[in-house]
Amino acid sequence: MTPSTRRIPVSSSHVLDLLKRNARKLSFRKGRVIFREGESSDALYVIEQGIVEISALIGPRERRVFATFGVGDYFGEIAVIDSKPRSATAIAKVDTVVSCISRDKVWRMFARSPRLLVTMMHGFSQRLREFDHRYLQELLQHERLALVGRFAQSIIHDFNSPLSNIGFAADLVSEGDATHKEKTMANAIIRRQVDRMAGMIGEVLEFTRSSRRRVVLTMTSFDQFIEEMVAELRPGAARKSVAIELKTSPPRITIPLDRHRLPHVFSNLVRNAIDVMPRGGRIMLNFILGEREVIIRVEDTGPGVSPDVLAHLFDPFFTHGKSHGTGLGLSICKRIVEDHKGWISASSKRGGGAILTFSLPRSAELAASKRRKGSKNGSDLPEKRVKESSRRGRLGSRLNI
Ligand SMILES: Nc1ncnc2c1ncn2[C@@H]1O[C@H](COP(=O)(O)OP(=O)(O)OP(=O)(O)O)[C@@H](O)[C@H]1O
Ligand SMILES: [Mg+2]
Repeated sequence: MTPSTRRIPVSSSHVLDLLKRNARKLSFRKGRVIFREGESSDALYVIEQGIVEISALIGPRERRVFATFGVGDYFGEIAVIDSKPRSATAIAKVDTVVSCISRDKVWRMFARSPRLLVTMMHGFSQRLREFDHRYLQELLQHERLALVGRFAQSIIHDFNSPLSNIGFAADLVSEGDATHKEKTMANAIIRRQVDRMAGMIGEVLEFTRSSRRRVVLTMTSFDQFIEEMVAELRPGAARKSVAIELKTSPPRITIPLDRHRLPHVFSNLVRNAIDVMPRGGRIMLNFILGEREVIIRVEDTGPGVSPDVLAHLFDPFFTHGKSHGTGLGLSICKRIVEDHKGWISASSKRGGGAILTFSLPRSAELAASKRRKGSKNGSDLPEKRVKESSRRGRLGSRLNI
């Protein structure tokens, strides 16, 4: 039941007297309509006995109840004030008696009793506030559900890559002459993909819960991680005539990584590059080792990114030039990299080709501490100080089918 803001305060006895003197009593049986939406509005009502439900159509068939009023509450005042047709329907929920005061009388009473006007306006503003609050709650819920829908779309899309890797691994072991080593490798691929998919589901839950999952950093051999990563991504890229090349070898260092979430960054960047190179091309990985961080540069031979697109690249749901893009890929990458206390940026080469660059702190303390302000993009590595890591052989090339 709506609180007393809809009631004429008993203390305003002269207002009540005024209302009663000017009202005519009307009785409505349970279920009878007092007024309908769209009807011209000619009166204000005060409930003497019973309960009144206010509802409106919110679709061709759907009716929503907005309020239920009881004894002492008034209703129907908005249309009386603005003289527009009723925007809602009032129905007696039980046998009900109301005092009905015509619009002319209401206006005359306003002129005579500013107190009545103030009381009504107070109730009116309270009602708008309640409506605003409810509308906001519904909007938030609606947005949350829309977000879940978009994430469902994104996760289905993101499952493509691990699923095709699992398929590849399954093919590998089903070949009669598969060696023990190949079987072990296929097994490892499947295990990692399953973990990755579980991680992706976690991402969705994390986003929709709007609370951030804590990053789980474990000291990891970076070069091994990259080699495994590339080995996983190459078959899918090769199927789209895209070659993944290591321009420099991943440095042999041990750094704090979230092994479940970081692969998502690589797969999103690679998939984006593949998407913009429908006729095939190259994706080149460069690694730059600094004192405090390792920088990973992912370049492609696609068309590059125009400045207006560049400005929104990391915005959630920003997608451009794709019919099925959710626009979440890069915003998720940014989040994951930043959860590692690294940074990510994008640029475009003059002659075409995009460059996505991100950093990962080398030490657990750095990864755990807040990113230092003042240094460009959080990096303390001017180009001159960086040292390129040396080229090494890669386990991944075995999988380049
Ligand atoms: N390597 C690239 N070259 C050119 N444009 C790119 C590249 N990577 C991303 N983009 C542009 O950035 C946009 C946003 O990328 P993002 O990964 O966030 O979303 P998406 O790829 O559109 O959707 P989804 O990741 O769900 O498939 C893309 O739609 C594309 O226009
Ligand atoms: Mg993408």
